[in-house]
Parts: sequence; C-alpha cells; structure tokens
Amino acid sequence: MARKEAVAFVGLGLMGQGMAANLLKAGLALTVHNRTEAKARALMHAGARWAGSAADAVTPGGILVTMVADDRAVNEVVKGGAGERLGAGGLHLSMSTIAPETSRELRDWHAARGTHYVAAPVFGRPAAAAAAKLWVMYAGEDSAKPRARELLTAMSQGAFDFGTDPGQANVVKLCGNFLIATIIESLCEAMNLAQKNGVDRETFGDFLTATVFNTPVFHSYAPIIAAMHAEQIGFELKLGYKDMKLIRDCAERAAVPMPFASVLRDRFLSSLAKGRGDMDWSQICLAAAEEAGIDPGAGR
Ligand SMILES: NC(=O)c1ccc[n+]([C@@H]2O[C@H](COP(=O)([O-])OP(=O)(O)OC[C@H]3O[C@@H](n4cnc5c(N)ncnc54)[C@H](OP(=O)(O)O)[C@@H]3O)[C@@H](O)[C@H]2O)c1
Repeated sequence: MARKEAVAFVGLGLMGQGMAANLLKAGLALTVHNRTEAKARALMHAGARWAGSAADAVTPGGILVTMVADDRAVNEVVKGGAGERLGAGGLHLSMSTIAPETSRELRDWHAARGTHYVAAPVFGRPAAAAAAKLWVMYAGEDSAKPRARELLTAMSQGAFDFGTDPGQANVVKLCGNFLIATIIESLCEAMNLAQKNGVDRETFGDFLTATVFNTPVFHSYAPIIAAMHAEQIGFELKLGYKDMKLIRDCAERAAVPMPFASVLRDRFLSSLAKGRGDMDWSQICLAAAEEAGIDPGAGR
C-alpha cells in the first residue's frame, strides 16, 4: 500500500484556508501553520494538526505546501527552518504567485539538500479554492510530479504540466494575471464610456456576459465593475500591485516591451497611493471612474 503523505501547509490566507481544507477532505495527514494563528482554527476543528512554526509543521522527507503572500514570505518560510527540516526526499510544492527567478533559486537551494521542488501557482479566487475548482500550472522535476499531482488533484479542477523548469509555471501565471488585469482595466474604461453616454452599467455588463464575452473572467468582474464595489475581497489590490511589478520585472529581463503592463502598474500604484491596498484588486475601477469625472460613490 502507498504510504500516506505527511503534508505541512503554510499560509492560511484567503486562498490557503480553502486549499488546505480540500487536502484534509482528501484524507491527507495535514499539519498547518500560519503567522496569525487564528486563521487556522476552522482547519483545526476539521482535523488538521497545528504547529507553532513552519519548521515544526514539516515532517522530514514529507511535503511542504506554501501559499504565503509573496517571494519574500516564501523565502522566509523555507530558509527560516522549514526547508532544512524537509531535507532529503522531501518535496516543496510552491503555490504562491512569485517571480520565475525566485522559483529557480528555490529549486537550486533545495537541490543542494536533496529536496525536490515543484512550482504550482493557481488561477481562481478564494471561492474557487474552497470548492476545489482552481486551475493549476505546475513545473519541476518529473520524478517529483506524481507526488505533487496527488495534492493538486485534491485542490483543483485541472492541472497543466509546463515542463521541468519551475520558473515556467510562474511565467504562465504572470502572463495570466497580466491578461486578467487588462480585462479589469478595459472593463473599467468601457463601462465609464457607456455610463457617460447614458447607458446603464449593469445592463451593459449583463449584455457583455450574455454575448461575445461569455467567459468566466468577464462573469467574475463585469458585475463588480458595473457596481464599482466588491462585496467580498477575493484578491487584495496590494497583491495585485505585487504581480504588476513581477510582470514588469519579468518583461524587462526578457527584453519584452509591454506598454499595457506599465499602464497597469501605474493604475495599481495610484490606487495604493489613495489608500486602497486592502480592497479587492477590481477596485482599480474607482481610480478609472474618478479620472472620467464619475463619482464612484454615487448611486450607493
Ligand atoms: N486571492 C486570490 O484570488 C489569488 C488567486 C491566485 C493566486 N493568489 C496568490 O496566492 C498567494 C496567497 O494569496 P491570498 O489571496 O491567500 O493572500 P492573503 O489572504 O493576503 O494571505 C497571505 C498569507 O501569507 C502569509 N504571510 C504574509 N507574509 C508572510 C511572511 N513574511 N511570513 C509568513 N507568512 C506570511 C499571511 O499570514 P497572516 O495570515 O499572518 O497575514 C497569509 O497566510 C499570493 O501569492 C497571491 O498572489 C491569490
């Protein structure tokens, strides 16, 4: 009989809580850690074991899943003791949105200790994470992938293999977030144009999603941008800004001009400057509305 994997899950934010819950539901032996302990309570009630540090959550030779905010946080978790403890035969499944270079550096850092590394960033907001409906792109050593896939299957509706260079999974994720952000920005601009010509924003949004823009990403964002209000925070604007910077850095390293990415980075930066970092990233629509002379608060 195959051995039951010991899985440590670190990073129980908006995404991590649902993802970890689905690993528990799949019957994996799960130990969790989060910088803020309170976010682990629901998982502990559901049967997860709590560890007081990321390193304590790890079983030598087991699996470490990270879903923390950014490159710095992943490095702090791994190099702050969890990576050393994972050791020979262990697997780090790195699911945050981070720079391709960070992934490649982590692969090398782990390889020096006999540990495998697979990058597996995801698409889908927290509701999709909770419903095991994420889409995953993963890359890393082929020999480590069967172990990774067992977990990815429990957390997603589909996982796509992008080869052996882990950075490539992160590049695909950044390209995808670039596309989503351009859709958010273009929806903001189109809705403002419609509104200033007397068209009702919500009617326009319904029309879009019923016709040629009948795709999940438009369904997610058209209603929020029509209302200029997100009922729930799915992805914080400050993390969206992190991704716009990662996209610009990645483009610069590869000498790929991306004028839209520069515009988006500034759009996110101006929203941060206005104190909107903790809002949902769709709320860049407020800055777009203000520029068009539209009062985002009117009608609410
Ligand atoms: N939300 C989405 O729709 C979405 C979709 C796809 C991918 N992502 C990516 O998934 C990752 C997590 O996103 P999220 O939305 O779940 O973010 P979040 O709700 O802000 O959670 C961030 C997590 O990282 C932890 N953290 C932050 N800095 C840390 C540090 N220095 N050391 C240890 N832990 C640290 C936080 O701990 P505390 O609880 O103590 O703050 C929390 O557990 C990000 O890379 C994001 O870009 C998000």
